[in-house]
Amino acid sequence: MRAVDIIMNKRSGKELSREELRFLIGGYVAGEIPDYQVSAWAMAVFFQGMSPAETAALTEVMLRSGTEIDLFGIEGPFVDKHSTGGVGDKTSLILAPLAASLGIRDPMMSGRALGHTGGTLDKLEAIPGYRTDLTVEQFRQIIGKDGFAMTGQTRDIVPADRLLYALRDVTGTVESVPLITASILSKKVAEGADALVLDVKYGSGAFMKRSEDGEKLARSLVDTGAAMGKRITALLTDMDEPLGTMVGNFLEVEECLDCLEGKGTPEGSEDLMEVTLELAARMAVLGGKAATPEEGRRLCEECLAGGEPRRRFLDNVKSQGGDVAKLLELKGNYRSPVHGEVRAASSGYIRRIDAWKVGCAGVRLGVGRDRTEDAVSPTAGVRLHKKRGNPVKAGEPVMSVWARDREGLAAALPLLEDAVEYGETVPSERKLVLKEIVPEAAR
Ligand code: URA
Repeated sequence: MRAVDIIMNKRSGKELSREELRFLIGGYVAGEIPDYQVSAWAMAVFFQGMSPAETAALTEVMLRSGTEIDLFGIEGPFVDKHSTGGVGDKTSLILAPLAASLGIRDPMMSGRALGHTGGTLDKLEAIPGYRTDLTVEQFRQIIGKDGFAMTGQTRDIVPADRLLYALRDVTGTVESVPLITASILSKKVAEGADALVLDVKYGSGAFMKRSEDGEKLARSLVDTGAAMGKRITALLTDMDEPLGTMVGNFLEVEECLDCLEGKGTPEGSEDLMEVTLELAARMAVLGGKAATPEEGRRLCEECLAGGEPRRRFLDNVKSQGGDVAKLLELKGNYRSPVHGEVRAASSGYIRRIDAWKVGCAGVRLGVGRDRTEDAVSPTAGVRLHKKRGNPVKAGEPVMSVWARDREGLAAALPLLEDAVEYGETVPSERKLVLKEIVPEAAR
């Protein structure tokens, strides 16, 4: 077998066999097949696509490039959630303790902020002392004790994806449905969950800008996941505007604590809680705790009101090395001293706040990063005082802004000002959860 023949087969639109994929990906991970051949293959996949069977074979080959987390000995059900990424997307921090309170175990391995989207690990690390570099044994132990643990990927989980993703990033081959599918699912399957709820986002702040593209990705993910024996479902959700009121690492932890209070949804966090509860309801169904999403949602709402998810969140902070007293003491005042404001440019209604522009401003402020090796700031970010549909008067504060440094603030403010669209009438409501996509066999 030769790599060049595999590239040419794909270039002419042929379906590659599992053996061909194993040869190519295995050779790449072993350092025997060079970057330039794998780049050519990825570009051929970008243009020719892959059949569902081929995507499943690639996912499995990537999965087998490393080790899988063994949750043997801990009682399930194990259900995880994965989001394709967004701005102000902090649902994981509410979902994991909520699902755990229902008796579901969530083995959550998350990523870092990259580009305009935030990262769960960076948010958690804004809590003083919180560690996201757990060993497999610590991960297992904390899942057993708290019902969930939140950590980064270990080096030996899907090494093929680490290499391939970095290569795709610099060769214009990220936005390929089969390559994204194999990348996400290989990691999620390796993490040990039996069931998965996917939050596939579309809109300006998402990877997929158009709902049709989000839907294609969601279908590919659920069909491939089901072919690999997972119970799986996906919600197609709106990421055209930031979720909730906070965009920033510690700021987002704060908003989650407020949502976990159990005293109803805080003002401005309605969209965040709507998406969170719809995802949690599906976790309840896949975990066998509810017969329907409606029943699941009712259970989740009752559970939140009872306060157990908040207790579990704080228990987990302690288990992962975080300082609970310090976290509660810092809440409301852990902010960078470099501070600015966005004030309303005109009177009327907020018609839209563009998630993409807010996310890009976040990178300038120090919330996110352009390169994986850059450090982020725990105390930078944006608080939205107004959201879509709110009335405003010219000059009223629309956003409070905190930056790591003066240059960051100066670069971010024009982007944030530009992100807000005003109008004279109330804008139409956007549907936050557009639809649920289930595997083909269940359609
Ligand atoms: N997230 C991933 O983990 N992989 C992709 O290819 C895209 C988004």
